[in-house]
Amino acid sequence: MSSMSATDHNQGYRGGLEIPGWDLFYVGKVRDLYRHPAHPGCMMMIATDRLSAFDVVMNETVPDRGRVLTHITESYLKQVADWMPAARITCNPAEIPDLPAEFHDALRGRVTWTRESDRVNVEVVLRAYLAGSGYREYAKTGRLWDHALPEGLQNSSKLPEVLHTPTTKAEVDEPISWAEAEELIGSQEEADRIHELALKLFQQASDRAAEKGVILADTKFEFGRQDGELVLIDEVMTPDSSRYWPADSVVEGQEPQSYDKEIVRAYLRSVTEWNRKAPPPTIPAEVIANTRAKYLEICQILTGSLPEGVDA
Ligand SMILES: Nc1ncnc2c1ncn2[C@@H]1O[C@H](COP(=O)(O)OP(=O)(O)OP(=O)(O)O)[C@@H](O)[C@H]1O
Ligand SMILES: [Mg+2]
Repeated sequence: MSSMSATDHNQGYRGGLEIPGWDLFYVGKVRDLYRHPAHPGCMMMIATDRLSAFDVVMNETVPDRGRVLTHITESYLKQVADWMPAARITCNPAEIPDLPAEFHDALRGRVTWTRESDRVNVEVVLRAYLAGSGYREYAKTGRLWDHALPEGLQNSSKLPEVLHTPTTKAEVDEPISWAEAEELIGSQEEADRIHELALKLFQQASDRAAEKGVILADTKFEFGRQDGELVLIDEVMTPDSSRYWPADSVVEGQEPQSYDKEIVRAYLRSVTEWNRKAPPPTIPAEVIANTRAKYLEICQILTGSLPEGVDA
C-alpha cells in the first residue's frame, strides 16, 4: 500500500490511505476499494479526486470530484429506490462498521459502504443521441452496434429511439451486440430484465435532466446480483458514466460542450508531444479549476445541491 498522503499539493484526495484493520484490495482509476475481515461480502468504496483521461490517471487531482460523483449517484439511487434496488448500504461514515472515527471527516461524502455483488460483466450502455465513439462508428458504417440507422444523421443527432450499445467489462471495453451481452449475462430471463430496467432507468434520468435544461445523450449502468435479485452497483448517472449537454447548446453537426472532463481532454490534445501513455503531462491549475467548476455546476443542476461541506 502506498504511504503517500491522502491529500496532495492541490488539496484534492489522491487515495491510497492506510486505514488500520482495512485491506485496500483494488485501486481503480477513480475509486479505492477496501475490505474488512470482520465483514465478508461487503466493501468500502472511496471515490478519490483522481482524474483519468485517455485511460491515463493524471498527476493532479480535481478537488471534490469524488464527492460530486458520490453525491450524484446517491441522489439518483434514492430517486429510483422504490423499484430499483442497489448494492450500496450507506454513505454515512458513522454507519460503516469498524471504520475508525478519525477517518470519518476525511471520507465523508466520498465513501460508500456496499455489498460486494456478483457483477454482471457487461457495461450496459444506452444512447439517445449520436456522440463520441457512437458517432464515429455511424460515420464509418451507417450503423450503431447491431442497429441499422437512417441515413443523414450527424454528430449530436437524436436517435430514433434509445438504443442499447453494450460493451465488455475489460481493460479495454469492446463493443458487443445485445446477443453477445446476453451470452455474457448467462440467462435469457436476466438479460431481458436488464434490458428493460436499463431503458426505464434511462427514461427516468433523461426526463429528470430535461426538466433542468440538460440533455442526457448517453449513459452506462453496471448491474450485480444480490440474493437472486438484480441490483445497481458502482456509480450511476454521473458525468463520468454519462454524457450530459446543455439543451440550448446542441447544434446538429457540431460537437456539443459537455459537463465532464472535456476541458482536460482538450488541453491534453493541445499537448501534441504527449503519446497518451503514462506519465501524463502537467495539467495547468487553471484547467483543473475550470474542470472542478464544471463538476460542481452539473452536480448543482442535477441534484439541486452540492455535497456537504463543498463550496463553489
Ligand atoms: N457493489 C459492487 N460489487 C462489485 N463490484 C463493484 C460494486 N460497485 C462497484 N464495483 C466495481 O468497482 C470498481 C470501481 O472502481 P473504479 O470506478 O475506479 O474502476 P475503474 O477504474 O472505472 O475500472 P473498471 O474498468 O474496473 O470500472 C469497478 O470495477 C466496478 O465495476
Ligand atoms: Mg468506474
